[in-house]
Amino acid sequence: YPLEHQRMIDAHELLGKLYHHLLLNTKEGAGALDYLLSRGFTTEGIRKFKIGYSLPEWDMAVKYLTKRGFMEEELENAGLIIKRESNDGFFDRFRNRIMFPLLDSKGRVIAFSARSLDSEDSPKYLNTPETPIFNKSSLLYNYNGARSEIRRQGYAVLFEGFADVISADQANVKNGVAVMGTSFTKEHIQMLRRLTDTIILCFDSDQAGIEASNRAGSLLVDQGLEVKAAMLPKGLDPDDYIRKYGPEKFRTDVVGNALVWTAFKLHYYRFGKNLQNEGDKLKYIEEVMNELSKLTNPIERDLYTRQIAEEFSLSLEVLESQQKKLVQAEG
Ligand code: GTP
Ligand code: MN
Ligand code: MN
Ligand code: MN
Ligand code: MN
Repeated sequence: YPLEHQRMIDAHELLGKLYHHLLLNTKEGAGALDYLLSRGFTTEGIRKFKIGYSLPEWDMAVKYLTKRGFMEEELENAGLIIKRESNDGFFDRFRNRIMFPLLDSKGRVIAFSARSLDSEDSPKYLNTPETPIFNKSSLLYNYNGARSEIRRQGYAVLFEGFADVISADQANVKNGVAVMGTSFTKEHIQMLRRLTDTIILCFDSDQAGIEASNRAGSLLVDQGLEVKAAMLPKGLDPDDYIRKYGPEKFRTDVVGNALVWTAFKLHYYRFGKNLQNEGDKLKYIEEVMNELSKLTNPIERDLYTRQIAEEFSLSLEVLESQQKKLVQAEG
């Protein structure tokens, strides 16, 4: 990095340490700490992920960092402070929020994601904007922290929210990463591919999460990776699940029971359909047959085709001849 980038990183490192101290050791941070502990974050997790708290003041970061030799303009370029409309001075971007430092692949703080403490204060998460040192679509939360565990365990777990990564880490699933609310891209795949060729998706169990799993998983499969999808009860995210059912069940029943990709697709096409309804049922069978026709492994194809034949009392011959047509149509 050129010097100006290094200075932006230094500013983040310093401010991150201050936020962390404010959360753990001050009475101003006590409310935020209570919030985190009450929702299941542990002191150990808070330390490991260097979680902090920004005061409800307009110029704490401005003062703290300018006193330490940083120029307002470089702090503005780093996304930490914002110029006032009236043009006289700057104010802090992050105020009265839980501060989650975002680290680059070398483990240096390059940005923050800041969570509001109450639902009145929107957005829920406020992120550093794009800066010379932070490109959110190429960042994986906890990539640096999970790297050796991903290599050791032979797979990565991809979460939708970084709170899930922390919660999973506390539950001893330490090979988790998350995108920063952006879509999952080929850049992310390149990063993961350096460590492993197997990914377990563990997204929120709602419509958005299942759609996101399908998109991320399809991209991964297209890029030649092996993909599984961990299933959660409807309405829960991994963090909710761990709080409700505990770490052990999360490791065995959720991560340990992840569906192989084809089984996930069967589940995916089922989502939002009422299979008692004839129209939905026909649509489902069509979508599944289309999916199965793409399988290159004949045993896998046969297995699922028989499953569908049995479930819907269809003759195997009809399904197989339909499949031949689909395979030919694809060339
Ligand atoms: P908690 O409510 O703290 O448990 O958050 P979560 O981890 O369950 O997050 P959620 O499922 O709502 O969203 C998943 C991810 O999307 C988050 O980790 C963020 O990266 C992103 N996200 C969610 N809400 C916002 C928002 O208001 N603004 C931005 N920029 N990103 C968001
Ligand atoms: Mn949400
Ligand atoms: Mn969600
Ligand atoms: Mn969630
Ligand atoms: Mn959550």
